[in-house]
Amino acid sequence: MVCLGNICRSPLAEGILKSKVNKKEVFVDSAGTAAYHVGNKPDERSIAVAKKYDIDITNQKARKFSFDDFKHFDVIYAMDKNNYQNIIALSSNDEELAKVKMILNEAKPDKNYEVPDPYYGGDTGFENVYRMLDDACEIIAQRL
Ligand code: 4NP
Repeated sequence: MVCLGNICRSPLAEGILKSKVNKKEVFVDSAGTAAYHVGNKPDERSIAVAKKYDIDITNQKARKFSFDDFKHFDVIYAMDKNNYQNIIALSSNDEELAKVKMILNEAKPDKNYEVPDPYYGGDTGFENVYRMLDDACEIIAQRL
């Protein structure tokens, strides 16, 4: 799960998908394309909306996406088009490129809808992001 800062959207996506899969079978992680918040825990507003739905994301720590992630993960989900472009710029072959997907395409194929960046907005933005990610993660979990 990849966004820009790895403190708002992708930590929620990680927590939500983890809550829906068998953690012994599926490894879920998140990262950001930027390093601004490396080492930080998720934004308090993401922590709060996750807690509202009984998901604890307080132990996550932001890290930067690395080209090595292409080797360790089967699927890499981008939250928005900028994330997508920044991730694919680090891919080194077609196999790696094909691993990168826009997460909302799981629910609405080929539309390239984005999970909006909630960082500069209010709490309703985080609720909105939670619901979008919950829908997409439900479909991802069912297909696994
Ligand atoms: P995220 O949100 O990409 O969903 O983690 C953001 C977090 C921080 C910043 C931008 C977006 N920032 O500019 O610091």
